[in-house]
Amino acid sequence: MQYGYFDDAAKEYVITRADTPLPWINYLGSDGFFSLISNTCGGYSFYKDAKLRRITRFRYNNVPHDEGGRCFYVCDGDTVWSPAFLPAKTALDFYRCRHGLGYSVFEGNKNGVAASLTVTVPMHTDMEVQKLVLKNESGAEKKLTVYGVSEWCLWNAVDDSTNFQRNWNIGEVEIEGGTVYHKTEYRERRNHYAFYSVNAPIDGFDTDRDTFLGRFRGWSEPQAVENRTSFMSVAAGWAPIAALRLSLTLAPGESKTLLFRLGYVENPEDRKFESLNIINKEKAHAMLAAFDTEAQFDAALDALKTYWTSLLSRFTVQSSEEKLDRMVNIWNQYQCMVTFNMSRSASYYESGTGRGMGFRDSCQDLLGFVHLIPERARERIIDIASIQFADGSTYHQYQPLTKRGNADVGSGFNDDPLWLIACTCAYIRETGDFSILDEPTPFNNEAGTEVPLMEHLRRSLRYTVEHRGPHGLPLIGRADWNDCLNLNCFSRTPGESFQTCSNFKSGKAESVFIAGMFVKYGKEYAALCDRIGLSEEATDVRASVEEIEQATLKFGWDGEWFRRAYDAFERPIGSRENDEGKIFIEPQGFCVMAGIGGPEYGRRALASTEALLGNEFGIEVLHPCYTEYHDYLGEISSYPPGYKENGSVFCHNNPWITLAYCTVKDGNGAFGLYKRNAPAYIEDKSEIHRTEPYCYSQTIAGRDAKTYGEAKNAWLTGTAAWSFVAVSQGILGIRPDYNGLIVDPCLPDTMDGYRLSRLFRGTRYDVTVRRGEQKGLIVNGKPVPGNTVPLTDAPVCTVERTI
Ligand code: BGC
Ligand code: NOJ
Repeated sequence: MQYGYFDDAAKEYVITRADTPLPWINYLGSDGFFSLISNTCGGYSFYKDAKLRRITRFRYNNVPHDEGGRCFYVCDGDTVWSPAFLPAKTALDFYRCRHGLGYSVFEGNKNGVAASLTVTVPMHTDMEVQKLVLKNESGAEKKLTVYGVSEWCLWNAVDDSTNFQRNWNIGEVEIEGGTVYHKTEYRERRNHYAFYSVNAPIDGFDTDRDTFLGRFRGWSEPQAVENRTSFMSVAAGWAPIAALRLSLTLAPGESKTLLFRLGYVENPEDRKFESLNIINKEKAHAMLAAFDTEAQFDAALDALKTYWTSLLSRFTVQSSEEKLDRMVNIWNQYQCMVTFNMSRSASYYESGTGRGMGFRDSCQDLLGFVHLIPERARERIIDIASIQFADGSTYHQYQPLTKRGNADVGSGFNDDPLWLIACTCAYIRETGDFSILDEPTPFNNEAGTEVPLMEHLRRSLRYTVEHRGPHGLPLIGRADWNDCLNLNCFSRTPGESFQTCSNFKSGKAESVFIAGMFVKYGKEYAALCDRIGLSEEATDVRASVEEIEQATLKFGWDGEWFRRAYDAFERPIGSRENDEGKIFIEPQGFCVMAGIGGPEYGRRALASTEALLGNEFGIEVLHPCYTEYHDYLGEISSYPPGYKENGSVFCHNNPWITLAYCTVKDGNGAFGLYKRNAPAYIEDKSEIHRTEPYCYSQTIAGRDAKTYGEAKNAWLTGTAAWSFVAVSQGILGIRPDYNGLIVDPCLPDTMDGYRLSRLFRGTRYDVTVRRGEQKGLIVNGKPVPGNTVPLTDAPVCTVERTI
């Protein structure tokens, strides 16, 4: 069943009913000011950091879910309704939500009044702008009372929801015409404030939430709205809000437009105030003036659309597979941008308060993002590398606002360092910018410790080589990619965090997955060394790769698939010797991609993967699921069977299998898997899948779950980047390389070819792939040996590839 449809021409997903199984959200903003917005207009905004600079409030565990956030009320006679259905919950005569790239539009009609609410964060602006158009489609005059409301968060989202003995005393606002300024803590150490404003004269306001709502009432029925009035409350502590009230008279056929603006301002320390405790509003005034008219708003929205069209034009495909095209050309790339911006911080599942930017997460997100805005990718790589320690290990996370490593989570995730090689190599292959390797980059952000980035990569590898266990395989540390396989944790304390609990130093638990990573990225590093004239180092690294490859063949191969690990007692995990958890997906993906054991082992590992882990939504993470808690395994066995790391389809690593299929040149296998969980392909199962049909979710409950097929944790998942890599570089086979663009498709029998346009190093490559007798590559009309299109200075290059 579907709750909407894709409008590819508009690059929108159109939701046709408000009661989607879960809130279906969108992201606004691209740099400093960000908003989450659901299909009923809920959500919240923050500046750069969803924990430390939360602008509006959101209650994750609220019932009903997703109420509050942005509230609009239209009062028409006895009826009060909201253009996006919530919070008023009045049944609408017509409802539609169109989520586009960086904007959302809500259309709601009631009793002859049509509302259209467009919400976006214009580029280069620290402000969300909400354009509300109300049109009288009835035959009689309409006198409407309209409210727009925001509830302020007192900046630090954790403190805001915990430290009430202080917080209920500190809320402060200023009111100036149709603008409410939120200035809690500005009187002391903060130099930032927020504002909510409308571009028309207001009839009244409220800034104290409880006065506006009234006792025993929620957002669906504020007292002020019921009375069609405002109490002109001025917040003093408690919960400050901005509730703006306007009256509109609309003749039949007439429409009026209002612009509501939610902004964030920072002032220099010496220019905070205009007079005693009165904030300096100069910047806010300028921002409001820049978005005071409909024409200004429309121009900004057009600019945003043009921006996205040009960004996405860097990679577009036309094939016989409409759904593949839709994912590749629009939604997968869009999600890559969102994961790049957010890492795992703020979604409807990630509260924005728990995790900052993850080291491995951000490195992997870059793989799907480097082709979009390489300059931002470069900056990100340096930020990430700067939290690494001198011994090559690294903090696991950092806060985006401070860019400092997060000491609460600490280090010890032994896969982390290797991902830095993955993203740096991907960046250089995309851009040819070897200068990044010379970029002075500190350890642990300490001034004076800067070394060239290349040295960070070198230490990443060395860390793995120097931390190996009894079988010569890399030590797993706290955990590798699978955060929940905690082999040194042995936690028996209820509620203790598996991520941060003290670890037993077994010196024994080893990861076959990290071995696969080392072989894959060690080879990439050696190739990089060759490019920059470090041939001796390349030879040394290849020797280490060979060692670990041999150890993997000897101790990591189980007979029909790759084992997962060795535990702290040197027992195999992910082996037919185990009763549960006999096979895991991760080493099948990485060891096959790394070429360990060649195509022969690859094909066998994939056949086992499909036979034991395959379901209709993809490949499950392990099988059989753990049915009991085991302290020597950790969090993985804490989940009920079929959920999360204990046997769901953990989408992130499915594209590894797709790529593994491509490694052994099995196009049917690759595409067969791709289709099983690519959102557009399962749109018609939305009542089972439940999360948004236009983005990947982290996890889809497995066969053993009570809710088989149900997805959770939409949006912020490494699935976005890896799926884009799998489809673009694996199935379509377009791979940037140091000296050219590789065109090496791995198509299923059902696809005869495709046309593709790819911007690469300043040249637009127009690629046509087709099947035919005369296999080969033709570049600008001339045959070229191999499958690499050489670099060129020409603006356009025509490529024909026959397969
Ligand atoms: C989740 C993992 C996540 C980890 C770290 C666990 O509870 O299952 O997916 O990576 O927490 O936050
Ligand atoms: C989510 C985390 O963000 C990611 O880093 C981890 O690899 C997966 N969960 C698997 O546990």
